[in-house]
Amino acid sequence: MSETELQTPIGVLSLKRFPIRAADRLRAWDAADELLINHLYQQPNLFGGKIRVLVFEDQFGAITCYLRKAAIEQGGSVSIDVMTDSLVSQHAIRQNLADNGVDDTHCTIQFVDNTLTPTKAYDLVVYKLPRNHGYFSDVMQRLRDCMTQSTNIVGGAMVKYLPKTVLSSLENTVGPTTTSLAAKKARLIFSDFNSSLKPANPYPTTYNIEEIGVELSNHSNVFSRDSLDIGTRLLLAVMPESDDPLTIVDLACGNGVIGVSAAQLNPNADLIFCDESNMAVASARVNVERCLPMRKTEFYHTDCLAGVAPNSVDLVLCNPPFHQQNAVSEHVGWQMFKESLQCLKSGGELWIVGNRHLGYHIKLKKLFGNATLVDSSNKFVVIKSVKR
Ligand SMILES: C[S@@+](CC[C@H](N)C(=O)[O-])C[C@H]1O[C@@H](n2cnc3c(N)ncnc32)[C@H](O)[C@@H]1O
Repeated sequence: MSETELQTPIGVLSLKRFPIRAADRLRAWDAADELLINHLYQQPNLFGGKIRVLVFEDQFGAITCYLRKAAIEQGGSVSIDVMTDSLVSQHAIRQNLADNGVDDTHCTIQFVDNTLTPTKAYDLVVYKLPRNHGYFSDVMQRLRDCMTQSTNIVGGAMVKYLPKTVLSSLENTVGPTTTSLAAKKARLIFSDFNSSLKPANPYPTTYNIEEIGVELSNHSNVFSRDSLDIGTRLLLAVMPESDDPLTIVDLACGNGVIGVSAAQLNPNADLIFCDESNMAVASARVNVERCLPMRKTEFYHTDCLAGVAPNSVDLVLCNPPFHQQNAVSEHVGWQMFKESLQCLKSGGELWIVGNRHLGYHIKLKKLFGNATLVDSSNKFVVIKSVKR
């Protein structure tokens, strides 16, 4: 078997990670996916009639691709709602579905917004436990409206990412919960729906950002959803100001804090907010509509700066991510810097804040030919590069 071929009980699935990188040795599934697939295979009459399934945080699509293949093999019919926060994950699932054949007669698949609660009852809810347990709990609580006593609720997780607190939280939000024995360092999680529970959901949360005098709202999977990041704080203290009619991008915007600050300091600027997290873009939109009601703003749920025109931007502000979904990676930051160079007008500036050990200074100098240290703390640096 190659690194991209997953052997399932009903045949091989070809699965790639996204974004595709040369010499990427990581696989697009893990042992928890394998356990879930084997479990689903062993369910008698899974496709007895038309079944409605919600698949949550299926990172590269192993579960979704398996369910579609199983429906075809077993002559069943399945409608799958796929819920994921990440646009990159959505791209991966779509591409892996396409790579494993198309059959619309047995299976309909749609992507559903994770800030909304679907209005149907599911027969099966399958999930991969996300790293952010607050996000998991938020979605599980909202999905109660789509569960009944007969909903089959099963999740998969690597043991190292499955603390006992997740199980007790499931007991309180969904109902009685048990786990399988561990296999290949993964476990399955089973919950029975208890309709009499009344869990309270704290999301979206709000907190006040004294530095810019506004309160920001945060969906459960937004970076810094409970307090301001210390790197962001350093950038807010040295933000560029101008009365010119600039176009400013808050790249990797999270809740939009950097863009809101830029709008305050640049009263004639138009703002663009970009993030690949659906909950980030939704939060930024709510915050901007409340804090900047009269300003011209655009929101892009996008990978880095995809969709922003070349040579169209005066200023890009960014606190880059140093991981893509669960995997630690410097590639995303590098991609953001390269795309910033393309989108900036001549004379336009990229300002970034980052952990000093990441060496962004060297990368920016290589790309832009210049990188000026604007400010630093013991942990973070703010660097500015100008497009010549
Ligand atoms: C360090 S956080 C910064 C958030 C916000 N600007 C702040 O300072 O609080 C990085 C952000 O990058 C986003 N992100 C990760 N990968 C991305 C990608 N490929 N394209 C766009 N945004 C991405 C994450 O969703 C996250 O919101």
